[in-house]
Amino acid sequence: MTRPFKIVIVGGGIGGLATAIALRKGDREIIVLEQSSLNREIGATISLQPNASKIVEQQWGLAAELKARGSMTDEAFQVYNLAGELQMQIQLSTLAKYGGERVVYHRVDLHEALKKIATSLDHPGRPATIRVSCRVVTCDCNTGQVELENGEKVSADLIVGADGIKSSIRRAILGKDVPAQPTGHSAYRTVILTSELLKEEEFINVVDPRKSVTTMVIGHDRRLIMGPARNSSIYSVVALIPDENMAESSANSSWTTSGDLDKMLKSFEVFPEWAKKPLRLAREAGLWQLRDLDPLPTWYKGRAILVGDAAHAMLPTQGQGASQSIEDAEALGAFFAEVQVGNLSVREVENINRAIFDCRYDRATLIQSYSRQSAKPATDPGSIKIKMNPAEFMDYNCFYKGALDWQRRQQELNRVEQKSVDQCFEALRIKA
Ligand SMILES: Cc1cc2nc3c(=O)[nH]c(=O)nc-3n(C[C@H](O)[C@H](O)[C@H](O)COP(=O)(O)OP(=O)(O)OC[C@H]3O[C@@H](n4cnc5c(N)ncnc54)[C@H](O)[C@@H]3O)c2cc1C
Ligand SMILES: *[C@@H]1O[C@H](CO)[C@@H](O)[C@H](O)[C@H]1NC(C)=O
Ligand SMILES: *[C@@H]1O[C@H](CO)[C@@H](O)[C@H](O)[C@H]1NC(C)=O
Ligand SMILES: *[C@@H]1O[C@H](CO)[C@@H](O)[C@H](O)[C@H]1NC(C)=O
Ligand SMILES: *[C@@H]1O[C@H](CO)[C@@H](O)[C@H](O)[C@H]1NC(C)=O
Repeated sequence: MTRPFKIVIVGGGIGGLATAIALRKGDREIIVLEQSSLNREIGATISLQPNASKIVEQQWGLAAELKARGSMTDEAFQVYNLAGELQMQIQLSTLAKYGGERVVYHRVDLHEALKKIATSLDHPGRPATIRVSCRVVTCDCNTGQVELENGEKVSADLIVGADGIKSSIRRAILGKDVPAQPTGHSAYRTVILTSELLKEEEFINVVDPRKSVTTMVIGHDRRLIMGPARNSSIYSVVALIPDENMAESSANSSWTTSGDLDKMLKSFEVFPEWAKKPLRLAREAGLWQLRDLDPLPTWYKGRAILVGDAAHAMLPTQGQGASQSIEDAEALGAFFAEVQVGNLSVREVENINRAIFDCRYDRATLIQSYSRQSAKPATDPGSIKIKMNPAEFMDYNCFYKGALDWQRRQQELNRVEQKSVDQCFEALRIKA
């Protein structure tokens, strides 16, 4: 009586689809339950850091697929102050030492490519099935059963909660609601045509928008982060500002709240004229109130485990949200590698979930803390001298060789210097 191992993944975002790819193997049955119709990924860019880009492009073989859609390797990172002076420039070619690259995608392109591989017949393992318009409302972590809004029940040996910042699986695992908290920051996002920006002399005298370079302009409590995507045909701008509790109702998904273009421009009044050009060209902008989670006490219970934003929603200041959900997915693939048959008891599944949590928690939590920390004001009031060093966390973020290697290194580290790691955590947990 051997039935294949069955997995239900709640949420078909980047984290859920990545988990489906990582878990595909042999005859395993994988079902992704997604509440939306999956046609609403928004027009914005997203970056994957080394080594997440390597997992996606090389380990899962998506490089060609993504290249065809116009993926771009980020070559440099440059920071300007409010006087328009170049403060620092980091050649990202030095990232070769991490064995991967920082790659920029249009979100739609990355999402589509992941969906294609998760459901493709040409990839090893039985293809995952994606069911859209399936909203999960509850989950029984011990029996491994989720219930949909329409009352339908779906059972599995393993339930993966990839249902994002407002996760319903998180509620089931923790036994209470732990909502993500506003962080005091909001972000406008907009995408403009590079062809239009090329007509703006003042801008192109400073920045060539066709070059694979991320440009940051940093003021005291606000900043612009911009760069090209889709083979330089578009230019993406993220404008971070202090949160003014702008018209975001809880019924609204953050992405569908449209920002007021005049208000956006006014927020960057003190910025150099060239840096404001992309904002002036914007025809529409999304407005997003940035929320993150405090480190959770656990990510698993019985047959259920959280990945991605459901487990560790973080600020976008390190560009690590998607990368961390891809590393979670890789970890599930690695730790469940030997499981093929659906005869594991709830305790056996929980033991594997615990091992994944033990392996991933410190790293994801530290990056979550860094992301919070680097959202702090970057200068003293009235000064233009930038205090932050964006290269600071690069080594930590990027020297990652997958979950099993991390576990081995953690075990070595635990013997030597657990104490200083704990102290480091304490310091970083202080809220921004
Ligand atoms: C403005 C912005 C910029 C960002 N920039 C970057 C960046 O440059 N680099 C980076 O790495 N990360 C970035 N991130 C973060 C990144 O998008 C996320 O961390 C990443 O997509 C992982 O998300 P996820 O799959 O865990 O959750 P989500 O993307 O939120 O996906 C969750 C999915 O679950 C579905 N769902 C929710 N509830 C239910 C339910 N009850 N039943 C069924 N389905 C459900 C949702 O519809 C959704 O499709 C950015 C995020 C934002 C908002
Ligand atoms: C992007 O460039 C690559 C390589 O030059 C090409 O193969 C691909 O078709 C281009 N894609 C888009 C969407 O422009
Ligand atoms: C990056 O990840 C791959 C596995 O996908 C690994 O082989 C490689 O060594 C990693 N590189 C570094 C520098 O961690
Ligand atoms: C989002 O919220 C705003 C302001 O509360 C409202 O005007 C708008 O209709 C909402 N949009 C959606 C899609 O619910
Ligand atoms: C589950 O099935 C596998 C393969 O048939 C077998 O080796 C294993 O002992 C079984 N485990 C349990 C707990 O029954």
